[in-house]
Amino acid sequence: MCGIVGYIGYRDAYPIVIKGLHRLEYRGYDSAGIALLDKDLKVYKKAGKVSALEDFVKDLPLTSTVGMGHTRWATHGAPSDRNSHPHSSGDRKLTIIHNGIIENYANIKETLLAKGHVFKSDTDTEVLIHLIEDIKTQTGLDLQEAVRVALNKVVGAYAIVIMSADEPDMIIAARKGSPLVIGVGEGEYFVASDATPIVEYTKNVVYLNDNEIAYIHRNELLVKNIDNTVQTPYIQELDLKLEALEKGGYDHFMLKEIYEQPRSIRDCLRGRIYPQQGKVQLGGIKEYVEKLKNVDRIIIVACGTSWHAGLVGEYLIEEYARVPVEVEYASEFRYRNPIITEKDLVIAISQSGETADTMAAIELAKEKGATIFGICNVVGASIPRITHAGVYTHAGPEIGVASTKAFTAQVTVLTLIAFYIGQKRGAIKQSTLIEYLTQLDEIPTLVEQALKSNDRVKEIAEKFKNSNNCLFLGRGSSFPVALEGALKLKEISYIHAEGYPAAEMKHGPIALIDEDMPVIFIATKHSSYEKVISNIQEVKARGGQVAAIVTQGDTTVKDMADYIIEIPEVNEAFVPLVSTIPLQLLAYHIAVMRGCNVDQPRNLAKSVTVE
Ligand code: M6R
Repeated sequence: MCGIVGYIGYRDAYPIVIKGLHRLEYRGYDSAGIALLDKDLKVYKKAGKVSALEDFVKDLPLTSTVGMGHTRWATHGAPSDRNSHPHSSGDRKLTIIHNGIIENYANIKETLLAKGHVFKSDTDTEVLIHLIEDIKTQTGLDLQEAVRVALNKVVGAYAIVIMSADEPDMIIAARKGSPLVIGVGEGEYFVASDATPIVEYTKNVVYLNDNEIAYIHRNELLVKNIDNTVQTPYIQELDLKLEALEKGGYDHFMLKEIYEQPRSIRDCLRGRIYPQQGKVQLGGIKEYVEKLKNVDRIIIVACGTSWHAGLVGEYLIEEYARVPVEVEYASEFRYRNPIITEKDLVIAISQSGETADTMAAIELAKEKGATIFGICNVVGASIPRITHAGVYTHAGPEIGVASTKAFTAQVTVLTLIAFYIGQKRGAIKQSTLIEYLTQLDEIPTLVEQALKSNDRVKEIAEKFKNSNNCLFLGRGSSFPVALEGALKLKEISYIHAEGYPAAEMKHGPIALIDEDMPVIFIATKHSSYEKVISNIQEVKARGGQVAAIVTQGDTTVKDMADYIIEIPEVNEAFVPLVSTIPLQLLAYHIAVMRGCNVDQPRNLAKSVTVE
């Protein structure tokens, strides 16, 4: 949540900062602000999108070779001009941008208020810059030391950038629990919440570690840890293409990302499956083969869409590897004293690799001695760095707040893990594995075919666009797909939607069904097909409107449903990968028809780095 960007070098800072904020806007978009250093500090901030800030400053002189900017997702204090970042010290000589939460801000604020500090916002962040100012003036420490001492006093999570009018040739950046990347150029440095604002200027980056502070001058990067020990920054090369950050002719990032899925699944599979040999290769976890052979329980922790992927993983791993799996919301798991031992394997799934609850769940499981694997999309994010091993999804940057290609890539990785463990434990026959891998190799093409349902889905969207509620029903691994379809619809179109196992409908939700209630079934020709047909009949008997996702050529469901969407025939193991596609398209079209902001739905942010 919140995006931060900073620059020091020889170029004009404003265009770099504002472009960076646009790239980071997916992280939060309720207000934005910038600071530039031109003799003295100039701070401009505005409630609303980054474009509102741009309009606000468009006629102002904005020359500076040092600058920083922030796009906010409010935690402390409502979205408003005055709560927007940057926040400045009382003497206006220091200014800060911050992503995270200072948990003990109230106590610090009380002490500072007693000393006469005056606050202009309701934020925790303003307290931190006043604390730094206070330490500096009370102790005579220089800015570097004052920042370090202040950070030792705060509890919580932060990624910060600080500028000072008295030190125009330096910016200070620090992180604990919130991501921060430093771009290393020639005579210039960039700082940002992720690499997207940096990639067009340099491919060389340093991912700051927790408890590190970077003192950045135009020609020097000094990194120390919070105890003042000098660290050697590890410079790595970014594997990120600029085109991946553009809409590429699509109206929205979400639509682009839906259409990218044949490619993203292919990238996820590349070099990992060898169908003819019946071999799955997962370099990231290969050191753990013995563990996987003997593991008696797998616990999957995740949030949101990643949790839905985890539920699909439960079906796959139990079916093909025959290991019991529990799937937990990371936010619940971390607070309920779960029983975990060193025998357990915990798999944490996260697109961003920064989700606070998932990270806390990992730390808890680690303390209890479990082995932790990560399934993550963003390379170099925090989760891959705190897990023992893992598998990247390689879906490429996902900018739309509603997760689409990350979900199918997560399910693809879980499928690979299920087969990998199954093979190592002898739970799956080699001939069966060859058969499965051969079809898995074809999935990108089948997803391409499923995307051809777009026009049909759009017609159905037209019928359902004014509904207030919607039910999504499926059985087996189509149940998590139903949950995912409902989440997609509610988060971008604001229609209330619920996903249920189809058989559960009669235990309550059936009471909701009337002629205004669209019910979307995943009714492909697999193990529960006949049962799902009975559930469709139950809805029809009560006047509900049924749209069903069916296997190509199905005539039985066609005769009873109001609308059908055909998807190519696919082995049951891979249904979630294909049946999800029309549900993503349905949510997308309904949201567009309702005039919603598809890529940046209200109240949401892409990376949820607060609890
Ligand atoms: O980055 P993560 O996968 O850890 O994020 C988890 C959820 O916040 C995320 O999936 C969220 O539910 C999306 N908005 C769903 O589209």
